[in-house]
Amino acid sequence: RLQKTLLWIFILASIATVLSLDNGLMRTPPMGWMAWERYRCDIDCVSDPKNCISEALFIDMADRLAEDGWRELGYDHIMIDDCWTAMLRDEEGRLQPDPLRFPGGMLKLAQYVHDRGLKLGIYADIGKFTCMGYPGTTLDKIQIDAQTFANWTIDYLKFDGCYSSTDEQEKGYPLMSKALNATGRPIGYSCSWPAYQGGLPPKINYTFLGEICNAWRNYDDIQDSWDSVLGIVDWFFNNQDHLQPAAGPGRWNDPDMLIIGNFGLSLDQSRSQMALWAIMAAPLIMSNDLRTISSSSRNILQNKVLIGISQDPLGFQGRRLLKEKSQIEIFWRPLSHAASALVFFSRRSDMPYRYQTSLARLNYTTGSYKVLDVFTGETASFPSHTTEFTVSINPSGVVMWYVCPTSRWMHHEKEEGRRWKNRISSPKHHRLNTGSRMFL
Ligand SMILES: *[C@@H]1O[C@H](CO)[C@@H](O)[C@H](O)[C@H]1NC(C)=O
Ligand SMILES: *[C@@H]1O[C@H](CO)[C@@H](O)[C@H](O)[C@H]1NC(C)=O
Ligand SMILES: *[C@@H]1O[C@H](CO)[C@@H](O)[C@H](O)[C@H]1NC(C)=O
Ligand SMILES: *[C@@H]1O[C@H](CO)[C@@H](O)[C@H](O)[C@H]1NC(C)=O
Repeated sequence: RLQKTLLWIFILASIATVLSLDNGLMRTPPMGWMAWERYRCDIDCVSDPKNCISEALFIDMADRLAEDGWRELGYDHIMIDDCWTAMLRDEEGRLQPDPLRFPGGMLKLAQYVHDRGLKLGIYADIGKFTCMGYPGTTLDKIQIDAQTFANWTIDYLKFDGCYSSTDEQEKGYPLMSKALNATGRPIGYSCSWPAYQGGLPPKINYTFLGEICNAWRNYDDIQDSWDSVLGIVDWFFNNQDHLQPAAGPGRWNDPDMLIIGNFGLSLDQSRSQMALWAIMAAPLIMSNDLRTISSSSRNILQNKVLIGISQDPLGFQGRRLLKEKSQIEIFWRPLSHAASALVFFSRRSDMPYRYQTSLARLNYTTGSYKVLDVFTGETASFPSHTTEFTVSINPSGVVMWYVCPTSRWMHHEKEEGRRWKNRISSPKHHRLNTGSRMFL
């Protein structure tokens, strides 16, 4: 067992030496807010002024990120998606924002965002058109568009792949990477390439992708439903042998936006999305209405321990360890300081399930451990890795732990303990695991 774990650490450590795009960006998964899932291509600013894709929307959300505690937690990107441009390029062949919806222009919007300590992301598409039919960035336009974005002081580009051929993608994604670099402005680069080619080797060479992109969409767009979240989770963990080694500092798999705070997820399902996205070392990019978000959704998204796990500096993507017949699944992510995160996830639809196991059965090495329940803030001590415990997992919910060898816990008590006390989100909506052995 020890050997197996050591082997794992060796494998993971050797992955960390794989090259990533050399722009110094996204050493941890990017965090922020993106318009697409919630606001789509709503361009009707006459009858829906609060929700249409316009500078007013991004100004509203920038204000919320800056004033409601998001930025301090790491949510520092605000990202424009499709439908921001005018239908035609300008006389010099440059993309231009829709003049009615972005009357101040992009440079001014970027300044507004930067003045609030945030970064601005923008969207383009390697094909003839964007997915919604706006002007695309064909091969001949890559340089001018990269320079336009740099001139606007843009910080992040999502480069989509609608209306493009395999050949254009093969040429265009590396070309844009070079063009962004040539501007001299560090611009985070998110590539949708794999999502258009099935997301798996041999069609996708993740080693290469990590050398030219900071992040990439591997799979389908997320929708506002639990079915959609489950479909994404299944695809990513069923293919973890291909995907997990691809991730690391500066190079991330992107299972798409967080839909927490919208309409499709219950509170337990919202905790599940957040927990599994942190296990996957996924970008934490919300698409919701920060102006009206409920405090219960906000507490999940602002959970400091969970964000700490997501942003662990080692940048190892986690894995699914077990799929039980009882429809309990267990996920694990190794973290710095010999710590790890565990997620117990229930796919059941009956009642809270009492799952019994021990750390030894999850292949933890000999020793004593302390755990912190990420959502309740409770801690427990296991004198031995063989200590049996029971967790109570709600239907479509999770229990998530931060796990640490007892000898290393002191380190956290000292260095992070005080911070962590404030990090734990409101104890009002937790599921107390009363009756379970671990919290006796
Ligand atoms: C461009 O690439 C070079 C070489 O990989 C790197 O040193 C430099 O930091 C990059 N610059 C930007 C702005 O990304
Ligand atoms: C970017 O700005 C430079 C300096 O002002 C200018 O010469 C260049 O034409 C601009 N490029 C684009 C594509 O806007
Ligand atoms: C994948 O890309 C890497 C880095 O560019 C390259 O060294 C390797 O040969 C490629 N693998 C395959 C199977 O093409
Ligand atoms: C633990 O290790 C054994 C032996 O290598 C392996 O067969 C088993 O799948 C592992 N269990 C888990 C939960 O990872």
